[in-house]
Amino acid sequence: MIVRSGFYFDVSRTFRTVLLVAIAIAFCLTAQAHADEPSRPEYVGSETCAACHTDAVDDWQGSHHDLAWTLPSAETVVGQFDGRAFTHQGKTYRFTTRDGQYFIDTDDANGGMQRYEIIGVAGIEPLQQYIIETEPGRLQSFDVVWDVDGQRWFHLYPDQVLAPGDGMHWTGPYKNWNARCAACHATGFEKNFSAQTKQYQSRQAEIGVGCEACHGPAQAHVEWASTGTSFKSADWHGVNEIGLTINLTRGRGTEAELLGYLANTEQRLGPLNDAETQIQQCAGCHARREAFDDGNPAPGTPFHDAYRLSNLREGLYHADGQILTGHSCSQRCTQMMLSAPIATTPIPRS
Ligand code: HEC
Ligand code: HEC
Ligand code: HEC
Ligand code: HEC
Repeated sequence: MIVRSGFYFDVSRTFRTVLLVAIAIAFCLTAQAHADEPSRPEYVGSETCAACHTDAVDDWQGSHHDLAWTLPSAETVVGQFDGRAFTHQGKTYRFTTRDGQYFIDTDDANGGMQRYEIIGVAGIEPLQQYIIETEPGRLQSFDVVWDVDGQRWFHLYPDQVLAPGDGMHWTGPYKNWNARCAACHATGFEKNFSAQTKQYQSRQAEIGVGCEACHGPAQAHVEWASTGTSFKSADWHGVNEIGLTINLTRGRGTEAELLGYLANTEQRLGPLNDAETQIQQCAGCHARREAFDDGNPAPGTPFHDAYRLSNLREGLYHADGQILTGHSCSQRCTQMMLSAPIATTPIPRS
């Protein structure tokens, strides 16, 4: 037995050595392959930028982009959760708070009443909307919302009769935040829906429209800023000489030195008040369009590679081309975009 176990031990040791060497070689080969393949920069988060871009961060903090999706707190929730009720089409909803958490009593998908905790807040003004997790990972946008000017709760679709089971009921697919809202209200969003389990395992780099929603994942840029001359943009996929995936105009006016739009391409972008620039940097979230991918394309991806723009069609646009339904860009927003550059300017809160 001893001999045999010794024999086995030897064999297993030899085997182990061979295995280790094989793993080591495989590792070297993969490392080699990786060294040759440029890495894709990761998202690093808006707080990382604060170390070097204090002015930009000050401008962005409290802006509508920053507040596009936040966690519920005394600072972010403007709706009154003081136990008041709102009755609509015979249904009574109640809004309460306990220990710093916010709750809504409402009908559920089966027609019963339930108390749901609010796990997210969308927007700030003119209305604020709340997000509820009805199943693990499945987020729904609730359609009784807070009117900031009128200081009241109201139903977004007052004339529709929305029974549980209806796709337009707040628990239904049309009100699903993962599939229908999050990509425009987050940074680096991935939907991750499993058709087999019908579950979402969505992820985002950051909730809200962070710095990198417009400037692209900035890992390589931060490395450039910290390593200086030893930085090689060729080590990274699709970045410019300062490590960013989208190029901005340097300087102002006609003398501005125009760099390419998409890093590593020849396409040029003018200043932000140029229509093409707005299409490339902003239209992904501010236009009627269908996304080809499951989440946000890396900023710097040409618009038409990532989206199919919705053509002028009845029901989608006014006769003059303004967006008719949905809020992807309201009239006020269009006007503001045309008088850009104000993208990072905070909008005063009342
Ligand atoms: C360690 C310091 C550092 C950090 C952290 C940093 N940057 Fe920068 N960034 C710089 C410097 C330095 C420049 C100036 C580059 C120039 O104008 O040549 C710059 C320039 C920029 C520009 C202007 C690019 C252009 O083409 O003119 C943008 C946009 C930018 N950074 C975005 C970001 C974002 C977004 C983050 C966070 C995700 C970030 N930076 C983090 C140092 C930093
Ligand atoms: C990742 C998606 C996304 C991108 C990219 C984006 N936006 Fe927005 N933008 C939003 C969302 C969502 C809101 C509304 C947030 C809210 O109300 O809290 C918004 C709000 C705004 C507003 C404020 C509108 C108001 O009612 O006050 C302006 C102006 C604006 N965006 C301009 C721009 C411009 C210009 C660009 C491009 C440089 C841009 N946005 C890029 C998602 C985006
Ligand atoms: C195509 C991008 C896009 C999608 C998808 C999207 N939003 Fe928005 N959302 C925006 C933009 C842009 C604004 C700012 C509009 C403005 O103020 O002019 C905004 C604003 C808002 C606001 C602030 C109030 C307002 O009207 O300005 C709320 C709340 C909101 N969205 C909720 C949602 C919900 C809920 C969904 C999904 C059912 C959704 N959004 C889907 C882009 C989007
Ligand atoms: C909605 C899109 C958007 C968001 C969000 C955004 N930026 Fe910008 N940023 C721009 C655009 C567009 C420009 C170019 C402005 C112009 O052409 O006048 C710019 C310019 C810059 C510049 C270079 C010019 C300057 O003012 O120094 C820096 C640096 C910068 N942004 C950093 C940031 C940081 C850091 C954040 C987050 C705190 C941020 N940006 C958030 C769109 C955005």
